[in-house]
Amino acid sequence: MTNLFLNTLSGVPQKTPPLWLMRQAGRYLPEYRRVRASEPDFISFCLNPEKAVEVTLQPIDKFGFDAAIIFSDILLVPWAMDRNVRFVPGQGPLLDPLEDISKIRQESLNGFATKLAPVADALSLCRSRLSDDKALIGFAGAPWTIITYMLEGQSSKDFATARKWMWDNDRQFDHLLDIVTTATIEFLALQAQAGADALMLFDSWASAVPSHFRKRVVSDPARRIIESLRDQGIQQPVIGFPKGIGEGLVAYCHDTPVDGVGLDHGVDVNWAAKTLPRHIALQGNLDPLSLIAGGTSMHHSIEAILSAFAGRPHIFNLGHGITPETPEPHVHDLVAHVRGQIS
Ligand code: CP3
Repeated sequence: MTNLFLNTLSGVPQKTPPLWLMRQAGRYLPEYRRVRASEPDFISFCLNPEKAVEVTLQPIDKFGFDAAIIFSDILLVPWAMDRNVRFVPGQGPLLDPLEDISKIRQESLNGFATKLAPVADALSLCRSRLSDDKALIGFAGAPWTIITYMLEGQSSKDFATARKWMWDNDRQFDHLLDIVTTATIEFLALQAQAGADALMLFDSWASAVPSHFRKRVVSDPARRIIESLRDQGIQQPVIGFPKGIGEGLVAYCHDTPVDGVGLDHGVDVNWAAKTLPRHIALQGNLDPLSLIAGGTSMHHSIEAILSAFAGRPHIFNLGHGITPETPEPHVHDLVAHVRGQIS
């Protein structure tokens, strides 16, 4: 059976691109909210393989997407490093900000894989329930994005604390980067071994890194992660998503051995099609908010993306996660448009 998503990621262009949406298992789906309500603690929910698989498969059953992304969270990594991570309804994630870097040592990784074993269980269960034409994606946050949460203690507008750290604490910052990179490698290796067909590295806050530091803080850790997976014999393709770095994508594609790169909705599709290496699959990049309006403006934007990437490996996606207020009929309409079932 052909797997459109994996074929594309191996560099083969398709007539109709494979399609999935970031955060496709989420609050815009009533059936997600129902399962979510049965498990008030978000981390326990992520670590319940049966429930995690159930919500992972909901958008596949409903919309027929070409890939499922395992239901989990990037903040399970600091949680498994014994940082106090919790999710407060209406506020998002909260952590105790890391004030003393010496609290993070290589020993913080003891027991890491055991704590995250339920994610592996969810992946293998999910793979056994998915048909062969659908791919299963495992993921992790990139080290910089995880570090922003560890230092800020929450989502942030400008990441001032994390950026000050980056400028002030050269050696200590690199030490933290090193440990979080090791943890990320372990988390991704565990997911690949459990049955993920592809891996995605979310650097959601890469845009906050001054261009001067991009190589050290964004590209070099991504390269080290992928090289280390390959050294361990892990062959699954990797999609990097350094969100918001614009022209920095050129260097990122050059400096890291990614198989695919995620484009946020700020990236000009014609520029990307012309400029980024042809062997790298491009994933993206409809503005998630265009799905709220839906209709003609969304259709035009879909067509512009499809025509810019025609003839090269392209995975259709949003430029960031789908929002909770998205009307479901607009998702059905998006799928039909991408697949050319509506003229
Ligand atoms: O369907 C999927 O995409 C799979 C699951 C997934 C979740 N988080 C579930 C989730 C994925 C891929 C993530 C990644 C993630 N988590 C990122 C990187 C992607 C991005 O959005 O940039 C980041 C930065 C996080 C951290 C995080 N987790 C935040 C900031 C929040 C709160 C956001 C909000 O909308 O409240 C979460 C919680 C979270 N993770 C939810 C989901 C479905 C919503 C929580 C809920 O249902 O109560």
